[in-house]
Amino acid sequence: MNAAEVRVIAVLGAGQMGAGIAQVAAAQGFRVTLSDVSVERASAGRDKILKSLDRLVDKGKVEREVRDTVARNLEPLGFDEAVGPADLVIEAAPENLALKLDLFGRAEALAKPEAVFASNTSSISITRLAAHTKRAERFFGMHFFNPVPLMKLVELVRGVATSAETMELGRALATRLDKLVIASEDRPGFLVNRMLLPLLNEACFALQEGVGSAEDIDQGARLGLNHPMGPLELADFVGLDTVLAIADVLQREFGDDKYRPAMLLKNLVAAGFLGKKTGRGFYRYDAQGQRVLPGAGS
Ligand SMILES: NC(=O)c1ccc[n+]([C@@H]2O[C@H](COP(=O)([O-])OP(=O)(O)OC[C@H]3O[C@@H](n4cnc5c(N)ncnc54)[C@H](O)[C@@H]3O)[C@@H](O)[C@H]2O)c1
Repeated sequence: MNAAEVRVIAVLGAGQMGAGIAQVAAAQGFRVTLSDVSVERASAGRDKILKSLDRLVDKGKVEREVRDTVARNLEPLGFDEAVGPADLVIEAAPENLALKLDLFGRAEALAKPEAVFASNTSSISITRLAAHTKRAERFFGMHFFNPVPLMKLVELVRGVATSAETMELGRALATRLDKLVIASEDRPGFLVNRMLLPLLNEACFALQEGVGSAEDIDQGARLGLNHPMGPLELADFVGLDTVLAIADVLQREFGDDKYRPAMLLKNLVAAGFLGKKTGRGFYRYDAQGQRVLPGAGS
C-alpha cells in the first residue's frame, strides 16, 4: 500500500486527539470512520468537531465548504464497522499499553490484510505494539500534536520492524494532511515528549515544594523562556492522566528515577482532576474550556 492508495482511515478513539486527527483527515478528503468505546461516544466526538467548526465558520475563520466536507466524510461507527474497510488505522485511545494491545489485537483480526496500522501514542514502544499484530513491517508511530488542526508537527516513529516503505507512506500521508514531519527512532517518549516531560514534571515538583505559585511558574516559562504556554497550563491542556502515563513509561523503560512523577501530579490524577478535559487540573475551566480566573464566580 502506498499513500495514494489510502482512501479510508479508521480513527480509534474520539477524544481530543482522535477527534482532531479525524477532522484533519476528513477535511483533506479521506473517508474517516471514527470509533470509541461506543457508537454514542464516537457520535459525540463527531458532534463536538462539527460544533467547533460551526463556531469557526460563524467567525469567518473556516470556509463553510470545509465544514461540510468534514461532515460528509466523517462517520461514527462501531469498532468492527470502522476497522473493516480501512486502508489505514490510526489508534488514539488512552495512553495505556494493555488497552492499546487489546485494540490492535482486535483490529488485526478485522482489518484488510494490506491495511497499515499507526499509533498516536505519546511514549509507548511502537515495536511492542507492532509485535502484537501480524503486520509489524506495516506499523508505525504517527504522533500528532494538540490541537491537531493547528499544530503543524507530526513525529513519525520507526519501530524495529517498520519497513522503509511504511515510513515513506507515513511521510506522504502527513504531507497530504498539510503537516511537517520529524522522524524518531523507537525510544520512550520519542523526541518531543522526552524533552517535554522533564519540564512539565519539574514544574509540578516546584509547585508541590512551594517554590512559587502556579501562575508564577507559568508566567516564568512564558516570559523568561519565551514559551507560548507555561508548563502547568500545557499539562492541563494535554491531560494530566496522559502526562502521568508518559512519565511512568519514561521512568519504567529508561529505569531512571529522574523521570519519577511528582506526587502532586499523581494526586491530581487520582482525584479525577485531569485538566481542561474535566474542568479542573492545576487550574479550573468552564464548560467551554475557558480558564476560570481565581475569584471569578463561586
Ligand atoms: N493530549 C495530548 O496532547 C496528546 C498529544 C499527542 C498524543 N497523545 C496521545 O493520544 C492518545 C489519546 O489521547 P487524548 O488526549 O485524545 O485522550 P482523551 O482522554 O481525550 O481521549 C481518549 C479517547 O479514547 C476513548 N477510549 C477509551 N477506551 C477506548 C477503547 N477501548 N477503544 C476506543 N476508544 C477508547 C475514550 O472514550 C476517549 O474518547 C494517547 O495515547 C495520548 O498519549 C495525546
